[in-house]
Amino acid sequence: FEKKEKPAVIWLHFQECTGCSESFIRASHPIVADALLDVVNVNYQETLMAPSGLQAEKSLADTMRDQKGKYILVVEGAVPTKDNGVYCMIRGKTAESILKEVAADAAAVVAWGACASFGGVQAAKPNPTGAHPISKLINKPVINVPGCPPIGDVMMAVISHVVVLGQIPELDSLGRPKEFYGRRVHDTCYRRPNYDAGLFVESFDDENAKKGYCLYKVGCRGPVTYNACSVTMWNEGTSSPVKSGHPCIGCSEPGFWDNGPFYQH
Ligand code: SF4
Ligand code: SF4
Ligand code: F3S
Repeated sequence: FEKKEKPAVIWLHFQECTGCSESFIRASHPIVADALLDVVNVNYQETLMAPSGLQAEKSLADTMRDQKGKYILVVEGAVPTKDNGVYCMIRGKTAESILKEVAADAAAVVAWGACASFGGVQAAKPNPTGAHPISKLINKPVINVPGCPPIGDVMMAVISHVVVLGQIPELDSLGRPKEFYGRRVHDTCYRRPNYDAGLFVESFDDENAKKGYCLYKVGCRGPVTYNACSVTMWNEGTSSPVKSGHPCIGCSEPGFWDNGPFYQH
């Protein structure tokens, strides 16, 4: 990947809920406006871009032509392959064909969220649309940034790393940047002293819940989930699922949607 000033970004949406876009626009370091204006040119993003229809498609085509081999492709959502991909089509083309076409000349490819990284909830058994993660459909390295959604600041940091350093960050065996997915939620959880002391919430409305005890017995998957939630937190470092009293459901791990139940009593 060749380092360039203000590379273009193409952001594709497939089978998704737009939660990853929502998370991204809440990134605070740097704030998203600075990033969009100063670090990259987001030339195609169906939720945020001003143009629509033919103008939007022109923007995509122009970027693919003028920035060939230089643009960064980021993908939000899984890609259905069953029944020739009819379950997600944009301007008459299947998501799979659009992905392959745009990925072919991308300098780097990033998968936002559980859907693009691992299939997401729409891949839950029996996976009726044949939803696939994008890494299964293209023949180039994919930086997986999972979570449902991923933390906005992590998304921003990953794309900044690619742009500023001009290289792919070091990844773990699941394609996740080690910098943000190298530790378990459990490792730095502020409730960890309670876990170590055997102090557990037994049900969501008990006295132990009010005291902020460990959520392991009500289903917390922090001990098997690699993500930065306990360190970076969410919404400018304000809180996290566990900090708000909810067990981690393992949203940055493959198959979390089928590894239920999310809650235990
Ligand atoms: Fe929505 Fe989660 Fe998929 Fe992101 S990973 S698009 S938040 S369902
Ligand atoms: Fe670990 Fe979850 Fe307990 Fe925190 S609440 S210490 S992540 S089991
Ligand atoms: Fe997801 Fe668990 Fe963090 S549910 S948001 S990885 S605390």
